[in-house]
Amino acid sequence: HHHVDHATVDKVKAAIAAGHTHAHIPDYETYDKYKNTGGYAALLTLRDDGHWEDVQALIKESGLRGLGGAGFPSGTKWGFVRGNAGPRYLAVNGDEGEPGTFKDRYYLERTPHQFLEGMLIAAWAVEADRCYIYKRDEYPAVLEILRREIAALEQAGLVPEGYIELRRGAGAYICGEESAMIESIEGKRGLPRHRPPYVAQVGLFGQPTLVHNVETLHWITRICREGPEVLNTTEKNGRTGLRSYSVSGRVAKPGVYLLPAGSTITDIIEAAGGMLEGHVFKAYQPGGPSSGLLPASINDVPLDFDTLQPLGSFIGSAAVVVLSDQDSARAAALNMLRFFEDESCGQCTPCRVGCEKAVKLMQADTWDQPLLEELCVAMGDASICGLGQAAPNPIRLVIKHFSDEV
Ligand code: NAI
Ligand code: SF4
Repeated sequence: HHHVDHATVDKVKAAIAAGHTHAHIPDYETYDKYKNTGGYAALLTLRDDGHWEDVQALIKESGLRGLGGAGFPSGTKWGFVRGNAGPRYLAVNGDEGEPGTFKDRYYLERTPHQFLEGMLIAAWAVEADRCYIYKRDEYPAVLEILRREIAALEQAGLVPEGYIELRRGAGAYICGEESAMIESIEGKRGLPRHRPPYVAQVGLFGQPTLVHNVETLHWITRICREGPEVLNTTEKNGRTGLRSYSVSGRVAKPGVYLLPAGSTITDIIEAAGGMLEGHVFKAYQPGGPSSGLLPASINDVPLDFDTLQPLGSFIGSAAVVVLSDQDSARAAALNMLRFFEDESCGQCTPCRVGCEKAVKLMQADTWDQPLLEELCVAMGDASICGLGQAAPNPIRLVIKHFSDEV
């Protein structure tokens, strides 16, 4: 369970109030460096005499799907947003709250302009009046980099002053749910909205809004600069494209690994330097706690969009956490449900009460499986948003694959 060290929190708060964030700014690609290697040529050419449908066609050809985790086809989304009368907005989801996910941070701390150019290309494509970047406050270096580089874009005359607004999230996981994020940007409490209408129709300030994740925009630049081949030529295990796997847990070298989308857990552990010494591979979280836990025996399935659904899981943002013989699957599932209990916005009963009840039931020596299953059905069927709908996954998967522990 995540412990809150109040003394440290107070110290950090005081430091921030005094203006000392002590963010270590990594050696990233600045505006000048990026521009000198052909950066922003794609954007300027498009603004000059490009047609948004041509870029949409390139994106569709590349196979790019939303990399926040849901994998919605990015080109199709542009069409939905364009289909509604303006003014339109673009909102970047940079909340990256999924436990185990750190790929957006990885790219922003290295090549922020690949993201920023992609954002401006997408904004051009849907004729967005303004761009909002919603960024988690726990990434001080990223916030500082973005502040500096947005100023550089304004200075270079690439965007009018104030066209890009940087907003800081305040640590609520639910504010990464796109409609809750929009509520938060509007200055309200982050409560997910009912769908439909989708944010492509009724989004920020009631207007059609294009919401993209940070990494999705990074790839939009690369597709415009390098062609759709940058994604659609990699084939493995019948899957096409690349995935940025955030790998952590009991591996020798945790980190972000860009691998073929057809990679299995075996490939991913190998890329991360193998298991930590003295640890035997036991289980893995394929994509955030809502994807639950799979056993080591399921090791030949590509970890990609659509491939894990038949197993009751999904790839999500590709946050792979590797567990070993020294970990308890049951304890991991309980930890996941405690996380959901803490982060539930409380708006709907099946999730608010369901998470709390699940945590209680999972603390018993022996799990009341029929009762837990009944609870899982109610939560999955009746919760408003993905948090409550997917919260049962860890419970079901642990009952299925680690029954001896529960
Ligand atoms: P979703 O599949 O409902 O929607 C995905 C996107 O497609 C949204 O932008 C939605 O507005 C759009 N969309 C879907 N159907 C549409 C339609 N008919 N018309 C117009 N637009 C449409 O998935 P959701 O709930 O937005 O995201 C769930 C995913 O988020 C999970 O897979 C989870 O892995 C991931 N996630 C990622 C986190 C991170 O830190 N990256 C944190 C928590 C969850
Ligand atoms: Fe809030 Fe949970 Fe309901 Fe989502 S499912 S709206 S997080 S209470």
